[in-house]
Amino acid sequence: MCGIAGYIGERNSPEVLFDMLERLEYRGYDSAGVMFIAGRKINIIKDKGKVSEVRSRVKPERYKSDIGVAHTRWATHGVPSKVNAHPHADCKNLFAVSHNGIIENYVSLRRELTLKGHKFQSDTDTEVISHLMEENYKGDLLTAFRESLDVLEGSYALAVLCVKEPNRILIARKESPLIVGLGKQENFIASDAPAFMPYTKEIIILNDFEYGFVEKDRVEVFDLVSGKKLKKQKSKITWDVKEAEKAGYHHFMLKEIMEEPDAVSNALKASGELKKIASRLKGKKRVYFVACGTAYHAGLTGKYLLENFGIQSEAVVASEFRYSTVDTVDKDCGIVLISQSGETADTIAAGKRAREKGAYVAGIVNVVGSTIARLVEDVAYTYSGPEIAVASTKAYIGQLVSLTQLALYLSLSSRKISVKEFERLQKELKGVSGKIKAVLSDGKIREIAEECAVKKTFFYIGRTLNYPTALEGALKLKEISYLHAEGYPAGELKHGPLAILEEDVVVIAIKTGRHLEDKMDSNIQETKARNARTLIVAEDGEIKVPRVDVLLTPLVNIVPLHLFAYYISVLKGLDPDKPRNLAKSVTVE
Ligand code: AGP
Ligand code: GLU
Repeated sequence: MCGIAGYIGERNSPEVLFDMLERLEYRGYDSAGVMFIAGRKINIIKDKGKVSEVRSRVKPERYKSDIGVAHTRWATHGVPSKVNAHPHADCKNLFAVSHNGIIENYVSLRRELTLKGHKFQSDTDTEVISHLMEENYKGDLLTAFRESLDVLEGSYALAVLCVKEPNRILIARKESPLIVGLGKQENFIASDAPAFMPYTKEIIILNDFEYGFVEKDRVEVFDLVSGKKLKKQKSKITWDVKEAEKAGYHHFMLKEIMEEPDAVSNALKASGELKKIASRLKGKKRVYFVACGTAYHAGLTGKYLLENFGIQSEAVVASEFRYSTVDTVDKDCGIVLISQSGETADTIAAGKRAREKGAYVAGIVNVVGSTIARLVEDVAYTYSGPEIAVASTKAYIGQLVSLTQLALYLSLSSRKISVKEFERLQKELKGVSGKIKAVLSDGKIREIAEECAVKKTFFYIGRTLNYPTALEGALKLKEISYLHAEGYPAGELKHGPLAILEEDVVVIAIKTGRHLEDKMDSNIQETKARNARTLIVAEDGEIKVPRVDVLLTPLVNIVPLHLFAYYISVLKGLDPDKPRNLAKSVTVE
């Protein structure tokens, strides 16, 4: 959600900035803008629309500048428009600000600043920050910055330029991600590492309530509360730049689906960490899986896995958990946060609240060093590599593998499963990678997508372990094709949705192999009797999946549904990588 990119060094900043911004596009946005200092002034060029459109208008190679900041906006306050696009300057064009997050007290700040004579150009919450800088600046830039940050409520990742000090970018962070990339005689800032991956892999991660500045050969970070200078540790990104590129595929989404077999083997690398988490969860009165969207569907699968072994657990969406379920949580509860990005605002807040209540909080996270990874007591990474497409695919597979391993370790240590059975399932789990490969090489799914692309309504149904598969299949389709798709527990159809079934409706029934086969068969008959076009996902179904242990069926059943959604999106002429209105990581509430 929103991207900030900044550069200072000997290259031409406008060109570097557009390059970085393109690498952040996957996060989702509606407008783009750049600012750079040249000719002793801050030049701002911005508009609503795609980065490539703004780039072709700007022609960055026409300019010369060694310092600048770029932004992709995902509007929260004020419609997507040229004037609301970032950066935002103050009245005198001394300062300009790019911001990710929400300034919650912007109405009162704006009123106060207006009374003091400041003139606002936009409807954004962000613009108060540039006017605050103007108001507080008395010759000392850092002091003005700290005083401005002090009055802000809400969340922010900030990059600020000041024309009077054209050798530094001011940075600050509270609840929205920002990292610094360290180069030789050049430095970068960005919301996420892919932005500067071709230039450097050495980073400094900013924590909440930290602020400072970046010069071309110096980075200084301070604690916002005490004002003290901090000794920040450097870390290294392990991802390769190639992993964040399309590698010949038309879309990142297809590339990432094709990487699903590797996502299985990669997630298996975290067995040590998962074993540790299982040992801490052992004996807890309840285990909660807390996450959003796709990661929540993985968590729901985790709940069914644990229930299968007789271990009580719940899956709760983070935005609900943080305001309600958390009130029932105490030190005898174990919470597992699940997140691809590790930056989802609701999941972060849920984890913080659970920790305040004394619960044990662990995480299953993809992005190494992300906020959730650092917030939890123990983290197991899924090691799925960068996931760029907004719709999560391979990361979901990684999450399912980690959760299956966690369930196996927990049931083994809780004596709910024999060593022999544990070993058999572990072995089967390792073999899932090859089974997924087989699904990916089946050309039939594209033909089915061609037939279904004209339909308007889709129901995905499944039971127990594959009810989350139904939810996830439907989510994928609606995200990237904008079609009406719903996931339902198969037994619930008769309690309402049957009313809208007719010839034009597609029902995708996930028959979960041998599990509850008869029950699913009856549900399938019910949909066929209403003339719905019913597609069965099963070993012998129209959508074929290989035979695996029942517990592992969610891992193979989702794969054709990923392809199905992808093909429908492409057939409809849409861009599956960047669906409208959505952001890759949702860093605001
Ligand atoms: C996935 O396709 C979605 N775009 C979305 O539901 C996503 O899974 C959710 O926002 C959670 O993100 P996270 O895993 O990065 O926390
Ligand atoms: N709240 C700010 C706005 O609406 C920033 C949004 C963002 O994070 O992109 O302009």
